[in-house]
Amino acid sequence: MITLSKLAKTFQTKDGSVTAVDHIDLSIDQGEIFGVIGYSGAGKSTLIRMLNMLEAPSSGEVEVAGRSMNTLGKRALREARQEIGMIFQHFNLLWSRTVADNIAFPLEIKGVPKAEQKQRVNELIELVGLEGRGGSYPAQLSGGQKQRVGIARALANNPKVLLCDEATSALDPKTTDSILDLLVDINKKLGLTIVLITHEMHVIRKICHRVAVMENGSVVEQGDVLEVFRRPQQDMTKEFVRQVTEPEETEEALRHLFEDDSIGHVLQLTFVGSEAQRPLINDVVRAYDVEVSILQGKISQTQHGSYGSLFISITGAQAEDAIAFIKEQQVEVEVIRHA
Ligand SMILES: Nc1ncnc2c1ncn2[C@@H]1O[C@H](COP(=O)(O)OP(=O)(O)O)[C@@H](O)[C@H]1O
Ligand SMILES: [Mg+2]
Repeated sequence: MITLSKLAKTFQTKDGSVTAVDHIDLSIDQGEIFGVIGYSGAGKSTLIRMLNMLEAPSSGEVEVAGRSMNTLGKRALREARQEIGMIFQHFNLLWSRTVADNIAFPLEIKGVPKAEQKQRVNELIELVGLEGRGGSYPAQLSGGQKQRVGIARALANNPKVLLCDEATSALDPKTTDSILDLLVDINKKLGLTIVLITHEMHVIRKICHRVAVMENGSVVEQGDVLEVFRRPQQDMTKEFVRQVTEPEETEEALRHLFEDDSIGHVLQLTFVGSEAQRPLINDVVRAYDVEVSILQGKISQTQHGSYGSLFISITGAQAEDAIAFIKEQQVEVEVIRHA
């Protein structure tokens, strides 16, 4: 659906040139939710803005839905853009227009007849869950509702692709989740391809199928979300993964426990996919003469199954055997303290 080839963007500034995007090759499939994560300044916004030519590439190619975007003339580009919706961190709504008129805006520009506009707006209002708010002004809405207007407006022309630039970064965690749920819903219902950029691993974890990690204008790592969570390669990716898998206090809490000699062996178990649901601990306690305590843990859901870490301690006569058994199971085991 989207293919980027050696895509690059260099800005000339008074202090010299800045390479925001440095020869990126990337391919995004139809119907997938593809995430790009990176810290501020990594080049994410520049990258996503080149997908619809809001930013002209310095070199390289962008193909979206079979169209080579960077060779299009003005008129063809306008048409191509109707197939690419976009939402933003600060919503970019028209403040003097009602919700319904904001959503109708792209239809007006396209010259859709009034009656048809009205019907489409009603459908969209229902799709994003804003029933009854059509006559409100943006200033009367919560952040989450404003983003729902942004989403409805972006979908007005039935695009094939939705670009999301930090679309939940201005929202609180609960509202973020409700907007992410809406994006998943739209992805499934409409088969829409979604490209989103974010600096929050939680967003990637919750809704993306695949992820690319960006640093200094380059993609340093990419893959299926579950796979990247399971085996992050780059240090920066590991940092992002830790954002969602380890409670912040883990290290401190465990260090404290390590000073207690009665604690026995301490293991970190990493569950990926369906194994996360398996009653492994139960099996161990039944089969071996050991005591197991759960010290810390966090299991999270991704679009392709659950992922998480569990820290346990094992004491008892058969502790070594129990550990050997656990290592044979479909979990990754690291003994982080020997008794
Ligand atoms: N219009 C611009 N002019 C000059 N430099 C820019 C411009 N836009 C972005 N940059 C620079 O490009 C780099 C990447 O920026 P950006 O794409 O906004 O990153 P991100 O979205 O990951 O925070 C930064 O160093 C930024 O200062
Ligand atoms: Mg940005």
